[in-house]
Amino acid sequence: MKRREFLAASAGCACLLFTKSGRAETAATGPVKVGALKSFTKEGIDDRFLKDGFFLVRGKDRLYALSAFCTHKTEVRLAKSGEEKIICPRHKAQFALDGSVTRPPAKRKLDRLAITVDDKGEVTVNTSKKIDAGKHDEAPAFVKLG
Ligand code: FES
Repeated sequence: MKRREFLAASAGCACLLFTKSGRAETAATGPVKVGALKSFTKEGIDDRFLKDGFFLVRGKDRLYALSAFCTHKTEVRLAKSGEEKIICPRHKAQFALDGSVTRPPAKRKLDRLAITVDDKGEVTVNTSKKIDAGKHDEAPAFVKLG
């Protein structure tokens, strides 16, 4: 299957992800509940939802979701490296926690995914909704903490 066919076939269903070992896995599409906003107390990157295809990042005053698909070859799932960066196992591109590229060959920032909090304080990430790069400072690119 060619890349373009793969992307078309994966729209609206679970996406295939390939781990460092080459094993295929699936990632969620659509809304994923990630827990109560008040439970995100530690600053830094949270990879508990890597199986769903995204990282959560908690900054000083906001929580946001970054796609775990490398922007160089989008079928590759990324990995957390320490607390300060995200790496691609295939060609070693690196990304900062704001999604920006810190080491090529990737050239484009990681995609930011829509994130919302409901009136009960529960946070949901919509893996099907990417936020345009120019709109990362407005909802639903992040949820405000405290
Ligand atoms: S696929 Fe990620 S750096 Fe090439």
